[in-house]
Amino acid sequence: MKVLLATTKPFAKIAVDGIRQVIEDAGFELALLEKYTEKSALLEAVADADAIIIRSDIIDAEVFDAAKQLKIVVRAGAGYDNVDLAAATAHGVCVMNTPGQNANAVAELVFGLMVFAVRNFYNGTSGTELMGKKLGIHAFGNVGRNVARIAKGFGMEVCAYDAYCPKEVIEQAGVQAMDSVEQMYKECQFISLHLPATDETRGSINAELIGMMPKNAVVVNSARKEIINEEELIALMQERADIKFVTDIQPSNAAKFEELFADRYFSTPKKMGAQTAEANINAGIAAANQIVGFIKDGCTKFMVNR
Ligand code: 3PG
Repeated sequence: MKVLLATTKPFAKIAVDGIRQVIEDAGFELALLEKYTEKSALLEAVADADAIIIRSDIIDAEVFDAAKQLKIVVRAGAGYDNVDLAAATAHGVCVMNTPGQNANAVAELVFGLMVFAVRNFYNGTSGTELMGKKLGIHAFGNVGRNVARIAKGFGMEVCAYDAYCPKEVIEQAGVQAMDSVEQMYKECQFISLHLPATDETRGSINAELIGMMPKNAVVVNSARKEIINEEELIALMQERADIKFVTDIQPSNAAKFEELFADRYFSTPKKMGAQTAEANINAGIAAANQIVGFIKDGCTKFMVNR
């Protein structure tokens, strides 16, 4: 049984060692394909793989066609918009994610980005503090919940809106549940985005919504670039010189954002939210255990293409 760990953005060595331990203890073999730059390398590596562990790596129909023995793909992380689920199902391949395993890492980075923004990107000028300011968490999943927990430590007023999460669940976490997404954007100087990229969410964070935010608005994106309508955000930021945009995912129009808003925009060069040893260990080892459980016991917990 061959398990391929295919990561363009590699895990920390300690996580790879842990994954190897789980795979080899189960009597399986681990193959590594790290930092690959060409799709052809992935197509070659999957040819004899029974299972694959990936991160944001693109697993499309061509990969499934090339992976003749493939039974399971585990996305070591939360978002699985990089996997063609229809093609997986058509090939009889199970797809799973590892929800929650990297959530704290992403949530901590949100605060790194927020502090960086309100301290004027450390340019030496006088900034502002987070304490007492109102934060709106857009989508209350695992990352959103961790953001809420940390925000309370900063003394922020915390509210959330999630179209799919009952208000009671949000309130139980000690967070103010908003009646509508519009209400949240109207009331919050800070918005942290935690939506997955789906047909419903793509481009949904638009000028109408962000334009409702109060003065000195800060939008933090640690989710997916596709959820933001970039053209509209650029136009809005040109109109409103008080808005700041900080992101862990380079926008498609990164050059334009940099050129127009040098002092109000920042993007990490590579998505860094889940890039900690702890998150790599948690998500990587969970993925390895899920593969062993699936192959040995048929366990389909966390399957996303039912
Ligand atoms: C996720 O969906 O788990 C995060 O966006 C992290 O993605 P990464 O593993 O590609 O860093």
